[in-house]
Amino acid sequence: MQNILVTGGAGFIGSNLARFLLTQHPDYTIVVYDKLTYAGNLDNLRDIAKNPRYAFVHGDICDAAAVERAVREHAIDTIINLAAETHVDRSIMDADAFIRTDVYGTYVLLEAAKKFGLRYHQVGTDEVYGWVEEGSSKETDALLPRSPYAASKASADLLIHSYVVTHQVQATITRGANNIGPYQYPEKVVPLFVTNAIDNLPLPLYGDGRQQRDYQFVLDHCEGIDLVLHKGKVGEAYNVGTGREIYNIDMARMVLQMLGKPESLIQYVADRPGHDRRYSLDVNKLRVLGWEPGHTFEQALEQTVQWYVDNEWWWRKLKSGEYVEYYRKQYAERK
Ligand code: NAD
Ligand code: TYD
Repeated sequence: MQNILVTGGAGFIGSNLARFLLTQHPDYTIVVYDKLTYAGNLDNLRDIAKNPRYAFVHGDICDAAAVERAVREHAIDTIINLAAETHVDRSIMDADAFIRTDVYGTYVLLEAAKKFGLRYHQVGTDEVYGWVEEGSSKETDALLPRSPYAASKASADLLIHSYVVTHQVQATITRGANNIGPYQYPEKVVPLFVTNAIDNLPLPLYGDGRQQRDYQFVLDHCEGIDLVLHKGKVGEAYNVGTGREIYNIDMARMVLQMLGKPESLIQYVADRPGHDRRYSLDVNKLRVLGWEPGHTFEQALEQTVQWYVDNEWWWRKLKSGEYVEYYRKQYAERK
């Protein structure tokens, strides 16, 4: 492995992963390939932009000719795919781009992997297992997605499986729990709550706030991806998370406490349709490969809150334009 195409590398996890791989592997070249949708942002990669082992290509993963050109021009041997539409609430409003990018886009990348004999890694999600009422999801559990976003990601996982079996594409999948950390677009709950709290704005908590998520630090997730890329068994999926679930209400209270803001900022609003009340991952398969999460939830949240406090230059300009329109559509009528 030498030349890695990180698709979706201008997004939250992709930019953290690009930086992580450059540091971790001094002999690798990292080519970020990204469409720069509302969620893609070159500010996320600003500190590595001048690294001689880094390049950026502006492109859509649905564009087969552009993908092939990038593979040829940069002598790519590995694709790590993070390009996706990623926000559940947006997928409920309009799923079109989710099907296009998350399903068709994955197909285009698999075709490139097949044609050029590339190693392929898919960054997937725990949401493919659906609402887990009891116990924890194992990689062999049925995929029972319940939101258009989760369904599009599950479709990608199934396509990958078919390319492994039928075309011998050398592919692996990681299914990550919710990530938090630097450079997360403020539509996702943690950066949304942190930046609203800084501005003394309400924190819109869906339903009863008793939904549970496994919030992991983004760099722990990146370590898991790196490990599976190098030590994972081709054709297999690996869960990546802390294995500990937190109630949304508790997360909201901790954010407010860390920022010294009053609990009265929490505003209960109408629930998300089809809301998965709980995700829970069994992460033993990854542990066997030698992985342990490096941060507790409290440490991850603390570092995340501090990063948003210190980096207003990054997020304040994002909370204008398209974001304002989205926020109005999503929250104005939500009582
Ligand atoms: P993000 O929304 O921050 O970034 C997505 C990136 O993909 C953006 O840079 C965007 O411009 C790019 N993109 C979108 N459509 C594209 C297209 N057609 N062609 C090329 N680029 C395109 O997402 P994220 O939170 O960083 O998530 C990255 C991946 O990890 C996704 O596949 C997501 O499903 C998965 N994942 C995310 C989480 C999480 O908590 N955020 C958890 C598990 C898995
Ligand atoms: P989110 O960050 O959208 O991630 P997920 O893909 O896991 O749904 O939401 C995380 C949790 O927070 C989820 O249970 C929904 C809840 N939530 C709110 O209560 N209010 C909000 O404004 C948002 C965006 C999410």
